[in-house]
Amino acid sequence: MSKPIRFLVVGGALTLIAFLAALFLLPKPQGTGLTAGSDVPFYSMPWGDNPFAPGNLKTADGKMLDAKNIPTAEFCAQCHQKEYREWISSIHSVTGPDILYETAISNNELAHKNRLGTEKIRWCDSCHEPVNLLMGEINPLAVVGPSEATAEGTTCIVCHTAVQADPLAGNGGLTLDINNLNNYTEALIMAAPSEHAVSMQAKTHNPLMGSSDFCGACHTEIRPVEINGGEPMHLQNTYEEWKKSEYAEKNIQCQDCHIHPDPAAYISQLNESGQVPERIVSHRFVGVNYLLTDSNLPSNLVTYLRGGLPPGGIATDEWKADLLEQNRLIRDLLQAAATLSVSAPESVAPNSKATLDVTIANTGAGHNLPTGALDQRHMWLEVKVTDAAGNVIYHSGAFDAKTGKIDPNAVIYIKVLKDKNGDVINEHILFNAESYTYTRDPIPANSSDTIPYAFSAPANAQTPLTVETTLWYRLALQEFVTYSLKLDVIIPPVMMEQTSVEIQVK
Ligand code: HEC
Ligand code: HEC
Ligand code: HEC
Ligand code: HEC
Ligand code: HEC
Repeated sequence: MSKPIRFLVVGGALTLIAFLAALFLLPKPQGTGLTAGSDVPFYSMPWGDNPFAPGNLKTADGKMLDAKNIPTAEFCAQCHQKEYREWISSIHSVTGPDILYETAISNNELAHKNRLGTEKIRWCDSCHEPVNLLMGEINPLAVVGPSEATAEGTTCIVCHTAVQADPLAGNGGLTLDINNLNNYTEALIMAAPSEHAVSMQAKTHNPLMGSSDFCGACHTEIRPVEINGGEPMHLQNTYEEWKKSEYAEKNIQCQDCHIHPDPAAYISQLNESGQVPERIVSHRFVGVNYLLTDSNLPSNLVTYLRGGLPPGGIATDEWKADLLEQNRLIRDLLQAAATLSVSAPESVAPNSKATLDVTIANTGAGHNLPTGALDQRHMWLEVKVTDAAGNVIYHSGAFDAKTGKIDPNAVIYIKVLKDKNGDVINEHILFNAESYTYTRDPIPANSSDTIPYAFSAPANAQTPLTVETTLWYRLALQEFVTYSLKLDVIIPPVMMEQTSVEIQVK
């Protein structure tokens, strides 16, 4: 039985009237999608007839987007100010224009110049610039013009048209029902707001957006063989890490922590009460990017790093205040992620050796600590032993604030990527990675890692000794900032935890 007939039989006359009225009011579902070749000429497709390859993002009808029909965040903001204001200070609003991203894109494209470098960027854009990808902007020849929505990275319409997700395949593995928004005007929305809510995948209609599966589509990064190598290479596994954790068992989704208006408060409520707190929705998506939200940085650096001022009628000082609030929430989240404990002897004899055990417990992250783009994000331990006279007896993990360098012998958590010559890749050139190793395995959710330290107390050490232990987090390698961004700026670390104990000398 075809759909309209079943509708008639089941629904009766009243439904029919509503249905006919809706037919006049709502946009016709013929769609506005374009076909590569006939509608978008000169579009290069080296990997078969999927214009979005080699990533996994796609449209429900398989067609490309028409730039004219993509509602911007500013359009949505007319009626959803709260969501807009939150989103504009999030990192999702700049996944494309982010200068770190733009710079990394150029690095990768250049590394594979004349080897389909431009087309390969489509993989990166599946997660970072979904609108550009679906529109066909990433092409060796400029075949479509930019649209206003392309400056917005992961904009409203990207998430709010997702009807299917493949979190294990990742690489932007979402299907977007986005090609039937023709004439998506304010008047049409207000004439049928509940139809609008349905087409924006409201949770009462489609629970997908409220689940980790949805986030996993972009938070699972696997380099496909089309880019390089004979095997897919796993680069980010946040979804799988979560899936294996107790959080998944307890039905605590990514959203519960990250769309909470104050994720650190959510985590302490969870840890203290043992009860799962109620979900509250904020579009800030608090994470770790303390750099792109630090509007206290000198000479408008944050505006530069975010790729310019935000679009739309938001006053610059209000926006900067929003960013500072985001920055505070991020620092709180980093501090809610881990706990540190030190097991040390009560006393040590002069001129002899002492041992310590430092334990880092992942008590707040619903996935590994750290997670994400681990060739850049890093975490390390600093252990400093001082005697009562202030003499430093032992020091591991010092940070040099003048050069941005970390003690090469530090206990550090980072993923080391190497190219085919065995050289370390410091500037996020994922196209060239041949292998990787972890200096130390990231710590799974609710697990811990214990690190032994040893030092000698000198004959003249003044009692007591103070052992100060600090866990540091840093967003990116200094090499990336100095050589790729070409900025004369040192990225400071953020203190996650600090603890100190005393040891008597006797
Ligand atoms: C002209 C005003 C207007 C515009 C523009 C608008 N919306 Fe809405 N939106 C509404 C109204 C009114 C509702 C409430 C509908 C209902 O629940 O019956 C709504 C509901 C929603 C919902 C469901 C909320 C829920 O409670 O689950 C989502 C999601 C949504 N809109 C997203 C968007 C996005 C994304 C855009 C931009 C592409 C947008 N809206 C543009 C007025 C608007
Ligand atoms: C990264 C994906 C993402 C982006 C981008 C995004 N949203 Fe959402 N949105 C969500 C999620 C997740 C929820 C909560 C769903 C749930 O709890 O089931 C949500 C919920 C909503 C709701 C319902 C709010 C409520 O309190 O229940 C509205 C309205 C909405 N979004 C509008 C917008 C607008 C407007 C924008 C752009 C300014 C936007 N969204 C951008 C993922 C996104
Ligand atoms: C129990 C709360 C919780 C849950 C659930 C959770 N996270 Fe997190 N997330 C955190 C904390 C705490 C941090 C900061 C520490 C860190 O970087 O691991 C974080 C950091 C992140 C970061 C930044 C990582 C970095 O270090 O660069 C990303 C991206 C992220 N989470 C995504 C996700 C995704 C995707 C999911 C679901 C698959 C998820 N999170 C589930 C608490 C949570
Ligand atoms: C269309 C792809 C896409 C979807 C869907 C998506 N994200 Fe993201 N997300 C990204 C990208 C790309 C970044 C990193 C951008 C950057 O740093 O320039 C990011 C960054 C983040 C961060 C880190 C922000 C920071 O401060 O470092 C968090 C947390 C996060 N996302 C959580 C989520 C959650 C939770 C969901 C599901 C509700 C989700 N994301 C859905 C693409 C996506
Ligand atoms: C599967 C989706 C996905 C793909 C594909 C992807 N990224 Fe990302 N990227 C992310 C997410 C998510 C983050 C943030 C994770 C975190 O906070 O640790 C990120 C972070 C980054 C960052 C750090 C940005 C910052 O502000 O600190 C850079 C640079 C970057 N990606 C560049 C690239 C390049 C270049 C490519 C292609 C070679 C690429 N990405 C492919 C999802 C993706």
